Amino acid sequence: MNLKPETLQKIDEVITHYPVKRSAALPLLHLVQEDQGHVSPAAIEWIAGKLELQPINVYELVTFYPMFRQQPVGRRHIKVCRTLSCALAGSHQVCAELQRQFDCRAGETAADGAVTIEFVECLASCGTGPVVMIDEELHEQVDVAKARALAAQIKQPAAGRQP
Ligand code: FES
Repeated sequence: MNLKPETLQKIDEVITHYPVKRSAALPLLHLVQEDQGHVSPAAIEWIAGKLELQPINVYELVTFYPMFRQQPVGRRHIKVCRTLSCALAGSHQVCAELQRQFDCRAGETAADGAVTIEFVECLASCGTGPVVMIDEELHEQVDVAKARALAAQIKQPAAGRQP
């Protein structure tokens, strides 16, 4: 496992916060994903070793909680809010359109590695939904037409990142 020194330091510190080592599994998974972008089988083994668990115990957490990714993210990371305000404003249709545009299901990375699409919980801009986050950029009031336009921009790397 090639974790950054600061991640290793945080991991060792987090473990001390728990009377029982195994309780640190979720925070460790978050830290490893933050460091590596996803949780690989090697990471699962490593965390299990660190916490004196069986790898299957850690693997179960990774598959149970939707925020953990087992595959590396694509070159662009698209998150569509699925929480109530955005859902009522049409985020399901927006997400469906993005999945069509990139031939990539939500929760997965496109075969060419161009994008990862995730249908996520509230992105904290509920009044301006549907909201789509592309990497660090928030896009508001995204309807199907705007989703198509955003997809077109992503497909043309020369156009760069658009607001
Ligand atoms: S409900 Fe979509 S940003 Fe909060």
